[in-house]
Amino acid sequence: MRGYYKADPWSIVEEGFDPSMHMASESIFSLGNGRMGHRANFEEHYSGETLQGTYLAGVYYPDKTKVGWWKNGYPDYFAKVLNAPNWIGIDIEINGEQLDLHQNEPLEFRRELNMQQGYLERSFALYIGEGRLEISSRRFLSMKRDEIGAIRYALRSVDFSGEVSFTPFIDGNVVNQDSNYDEKFWEMEETGAGKGTGYLVARTRKNGFVSCMTMGYNLWRNGSAIEVEPETEKRDDYVSNRVTAKLGIGEELILYKYVSVLTSMNHAPEEMVPAGRKMLAEAMETGFDLLFAEHTGIWEEKWAHSDIIIDGDTAAQQGIRFNIFQLNQTYTGKDERLNIGPKGFTGEKYGGSTYWDTEAYMIPFYLSTAREEVARNLLIYRYKHLGKAIENAEKLGFTGGAALYPMVTMNGEECHNEWEITFEEIHRNGAIAYAIYNYTRYTGDRQYLAGYGLEVLIAISRFWRQRVNWSDEKGKYVMLGVTGPNEYENNVNNNWYTNKMAAWTISYTMESLDRLAKEDPGAFKHMIGKTSFDLKEEIAAWREIVEKLHFPYEENKRVFLQQDGFMDKEQIMAADLDPAQRPINQHWSWDRILRSCFIKQADVLQGIFVFEDEFDLETIERHFDFYEPRTVHESSLSPCVHSILAARIGRSDKAYEMYLRTSRLDLDDYNHEVDEGLHITSMGGTWMSVIYGFGGMTVREGLLSFEPHLPANWKALSFKILYRGRTLLVNIDKERVTIENLAGEGVDLFLAGSQVHLEKSGSVVAKL
Ligand code: BGC
Repeated sequence: MRGYYKADPWSIVEEGFDPSMHMASESIFSLGNGRMGHRANFEEHYSGETLQGTYLAGVYYPDKTKVGWWKNGYPDYFAKVLNAPNWIGIDIEINGEQLDLHQNEPLEFRRELNMQQGYLERSFALYIGEGRLEISSRRFLSMKRDEIGAIRYALRSVDFSGEVSFTPFIDGNVVNQDSNYDEKFWEMEETGAGKGTGYLVARTRKNGFVSCMTMGYNLWRNGSAIEVEPETEKRDDYVSNRVTAKLGIGEELILYKYVSVLTSMNHAPEEMVPAGRKMLAEAMETGFDLLFAEHTGIWEEKWAHSDIIIDGDTAAQQGIRFNIFQLNQTYTGKDERLNIGPKGFTGEKYGGSTYWDTEAYMIPFYLSTAREEVARNLLIYRYKHLGKAIENAEKLGFTGGAALYPMVTMNGEECHNEWEITFEEIHRNGAIAYAIYNYTRYTGDRQYLAGYGLEVLIAISRFWRQRVNWSDEKGKYVMLGVTGPNEYENNVNNNWYTNKMAAWTISYTMESLDRLAKEDPGAFKHMIGKTSFDLKEEIAAWREIVEKLHFPYEENKRVFLQQDGFMDKEQIMAADLDPAQRPINQHWSWDRILRSCFIKQADVLQGIFVFEDEFDLETIERHFDFYEPRTVHESSLSPCVHSILAARIGRSDKAYEMYLRTSRLDLDDYNHEVDEGLHITSMGGTWMSVIYGFGGMTVREGLLSFEPHLPANWKALSFKILYRGRTLLVNIDKERVTIENLAGEGVDLFLAGSQVHLEKSGSVVAKL
């Protein structure tokens, strides 16, 4: 599907309607505003293949677990962000015939996702008999009033004359495609329809989240509002108003539909109907154009901080903006109860729940492009789940305040139910610990560590202590039966990445305790008391593990091995695979995958990326050359890490190839699955591949450092970074890198290898 969407720096454009691409486009053109989102389903009826999806942040359903063979320790349910009542609907009849693009082939079809202003627009023409009609719709989810959505649906006659009916509706008769037992997740509570309005209140079964959607509309002809008596319809799960008007040659009819979407996350259920009505009335009073202006104003602010400008490469430019746009649509950081599902608001897969993706891939983006509170709220989310993580570990037999965070969660409880992942993919604990460090070193906010972070670190370190055991044979501590980030290996011993994460977490916890004892004895005492920490005993045990943990190593090739025994595998390279067999996860049996040496996603290289400071370039290069040829990148989270490391070691062609793969993963559908939704969490990785890879940004000796490596075909790269109250503008071209301090105090930095001081409002330049 490469090249299907037109290259454009600010928009994603589809020209011509291809029903076989419709579900892919429904994902690509999705909209969100952090509070809610939906796929780009058509407003009017569509009888072709479609995946309907309207999602409400934080509103989920505990779908009873379905597994082939039950194992003790499996969770009872999988939390799913559920498909919510459809509020975008506007059915259209033209001379009594229902408009359905599966039946009425559109001409000059064009769909545009305007990323600069955050709206979706669709236009096409139709012939009804001899008469030509031009139809267009624009919609957006207000970034300013995040419980409001608005649609403008216009029909313009060129030489058609007849009757048009618009039926704006809210439909509660929705299902989740991924429902385990084909259950309906919603129960309808109440509907109401009056002249010009309608509302629908629904409640989730079992856990009782309530949503209330209220619609209003007005109809305009040739620029003036017209009054038309509607036919209202109200069923238990559906409300609508049908308005019919004449459309003469050269005339235009526009229906503006406004909807308020409230949930019990933020409103008391008994107040939702009046609150929704009031909010809707205010929005309608403001009107489409002003609501739109407010909305685009917020996008302007967002882009002012988070845009990346690539000169000389439209495909790369479009790719990075698409990723940034989706990240900003998915999470706005206002609410610490929310997190980021791998598909965001664009599909059902992965249930909309939280994975290690957030800590490993998303935190860096929000740290550098949004106010500190945004990344902090993501950390607080995990802090609030600490009790559940301790319970989760207890269920598996761990004791004494050891915490195992879930692989997949909504409210802190584990939802994943495949033993090799649920029980064994424990490296997620390491990512959560590392995110605390990452936040602290980037922001300099030590209060977080003292007040919250350290408690999490202690509990995770306690888990690692119990998860390793002493091996007499090796004279080392070992960690048996794990799955690393590379899920194409299960139940392995001594996954290098996991062991590295474990040893690092314990060291960082000890160092943080030590530092707190010196800097703030009161807070230290409080932490020791709160966690019943046995200073002497626990520290001694931790120290011993850090000193004596086993790390598999191959002496001849001088590489850290992904796990014990990795070299026993037949060493074939991914380039030797028959392209028709790829992706292997869609062509090979699982046992064949497990026995092969093919790596799904960065694993040892993930660790080298995270702890890059510890390795010299030669070591990074050696590991890259060993692992990259064996990696099939069948997880979206993989190419970005390889891109960053390739840039670091000066392999700019490889870095660029991997960059396109991560940034255009969905736009060019590399993994043949975009119809299921977008890979939102890997988009944080795309951002890293530009800023950390090509921009060469790292934190070195406590200072921000930039060592750029531009791909050959880029003339220039420019981006902004928020850093401890400062806004830094970084401009890189073939000859030099310049950093301007746009806001905030002076700061010391490393620039192209040398330490420099950047004055308040000043700039620094280095030759490349
Ligand atoms: C990856 C995991 C990731 C999950 C959700 C899987 O395919 O292997 O690392 O957490 O997708 O994005």
